[in-house]
Amino acid sequence: MKKIISFSGKGGVGKSTLLVLMLKYLLEKFKDLNILVIDADPDANIGDIIGKDIHFKETVGGKMAELKRKIQKRQIPLEVSKDQIVESEVFEALIEMDLFDILEMGRSEGEGCYCSINNYLKRIIDILAKNYDIVLIDAPAGLEYFARKTGRTVTDLVIVSDPSKMGIHTMKRILEVSKEVDLRFENIWILGNRFPENSLRDILEKEVANIKEEYVKLLGFIENSDEISRMNIVGENLLDLPNESKPYKTVKQLYSTII
Ligand SMILES: Nc1ncnc2c1ncn2[C@@H]1O[C@H](COP(=O)(O)OP(=O)(O)OP(=O)(O)O)[C@@H](O)[C@H]1O
Ligand SMILES: [Mg+2]
Repeated sequence: MKKIISFSGKGGVGKSTLLVLMLKYLLEKFKDLNILVIDADPDANIGDIIGKDIHFKETVGGKMAELKRKIQKRQIPLEVSKDQIVESEVFEALIEMDLFDILEMGRSEGEGCYCSINNYLKRIIDILAKNYDIVLIDAPAGLEYFARKTGRTVTDLVIVSDPSKMGIHTMKRILEVSKEVDLRFENIWILGNRFPENSLRDILEKEVANIKEEYVKLLGFIENSDEISRMNIVGENLLDLPNESKPYKTVKQLYSTII
């Protein structure tokens, strides 16, 4: 099994939440998988969701900033290539948890801009993915990530939408852009989050039914959950969401289609 699964969608629709629930599902279902979580969202919060403090200096952005200072001070031997250095910094930034690893991309320091780090994302995925059975990527909101063709190595793209017009609009834009820049995925899964069990679901169902590409499929719907909200507000580790809770049961059933 080798899967690289990336979560995308409008800001705030539940990408990070649903990624962490997929992580929970994988940890429960498969005992010996090597799993890497790449947090490529500059407003990183995977750490927050699983109750792990991650400092800037531990992120790829932090390592790069340090590297820049070393280069300025000429502390890097000339015979080492830039690619080799970047590669070793990326390995340095890997955070090893008990059951999985995390790579926190972080921000580029001092530029107020995330782009330069994001340029490395594709290479980073290529470098690291070899060592893992499953890579889960929390993609930044917005579409710049796609324009850089990062998705080439991604096998499954999960596009999360909430029941808002903007959520669905962004989902459609992501599909359009990925076609325009010719990104290929084995599967694109549309996942409705915080959908009540009513006719709102029909709207998204119809939208997906209108999509001609057979690799774009509706994965299903997750209800709004007071338990998820509560854990978020109190700052509890979402991996501890009870196995018998309703949203987790739904998630499990949906994710078993992907993996
Ligand atoms: N099914 C759900 N039920 C209740 N609350 C949810 C649900 N899904 C997500 N949330 C809450 O919605 C908020 C946004 O979720 P999350 O941070 O996962 O979204 P995101 O798409 O990753 O946002 P961003 O674009 O800012 O990274 C969080 O407070 C989260 O707890
Ligand atoms: Mg997020």
